[in-house]
Amino acid sequence: MTASISASLLDWYDANARDLPWRLPPGVPLPDDADWPYRVWLSEVMLQQTTVAAVKPYFARFTALWPSVDALAAASDDDVMAAWAGLGYYSRARNLVKCARAVAERGGFPATEAELRALPGLGDYTAAAVAAIAFGKPAVVVDANVERVVARLFAIDAPLPGARKAIRAAAATITPEKRAGDFAQAMMDLGSQVCTGKAPRCLLCPLADACKGRKAGEPARLPVKPPKKAVPERHGTAFWITRRQGREVWLVTRPGTGMLGGMRALPDDGWSARADGSGAPPLAGDWRVLGAVRHGFTHAHLTLEVRALESEGQPPGEGQWWAVARIGEAGLATLFARAAALALAGA
Ligand code: ADE
Repeated sequence: MTASISASLLDWYDANARDLPWRLPPGVPLPDDADWPYRVWLSEVMLQQTTVAAVKPYFARFTALWPSVDALAAASDDDVMAAWAGLGYYSRARNLVKCARAVAERGGFPATEAELRALPGLGDYTAAAVAAIAFGKPAVVVDANVERVVARLFAIDAPLPGARKAIRAAAATITPEKRAGDFAQAMMDLGSQVCTGKAPRCLLCPLADACKGRKAGEPARLPVKPPKKAVPERHGTAFWITRRQGREVWLVTRPGTGMLGGMRALPDDGWSARADGSGAPPLAGDWRVLGAVRHGFTHAHLTLEVRALESEGQPPGEGQWWAVARIGEAGLATLFARAAALALAGA
């Protein structure tokens, strides 16, 4: 039964695999090329919590700028953070550079799940995905799509996140020794194209006959999600400080590893996912309130008021005057790019 599940799925994948820039066509042998694991790793990091459509242009840009892990390892943190701007979850970009440097140092990616897992910033999911897709190892790859497929296939109705252990164990029973990378990506494709969150398309599913969730009725009920936590509302202020008749704006680099850490940004009043900002501006002056932008983070929803001041005085702390005409190249995270757009619309 379990062997026929993987065989049915691989047959389906042979006919229905999505053509994606980081993928080989189904059944094609793994290339013996040092850049291959790099492309797989980069795509898997980008695809965490992010859609294929959003990732495609970033993957193209990164591989054009940095075609190998050695090239990425030699890039400056600032350039990588700026190229990541807009993709979100910026700790991924900070870890990406760290991992690239460790891989370059050791002379290439290791081929086992355990060694991959030991690289900086590389978690269980990515280690399994790279081991399977780049190196053909029969690793058990479970992302949210696979979780949904497996919970339905085996009718696992314990709520998440507690059900994860059972889901993983069940996924292990259907993971084949051969074509592990194709199998992992077939599960992902099935989850995103057929076994969708709402209204799964069971009539098109190659695993419908084996699916216990379908037999039990209401497969869309699975996996059972935990009750949604209320997301707190936060308030903050961003400051658009210009000089030379609005031609240059003061930008800072956000500190450390906190929220949007390492990203270039407008100065702000110290809001975070956990606290409201003080509202206090960095310079005294006749500030104009331009409006507000809203942004949803995982842990908070933020309303960020945007205030503007033209000032020849230097704001306190570290930062740089940036040509407003080149603001698109500053690598602002989406929230600050929106604040900048608001400021420019009101200028
Ligand atoms: N999501 C995560 N990894 C993926 C992959 N390799 N192909 C398609 N979707 C994915």
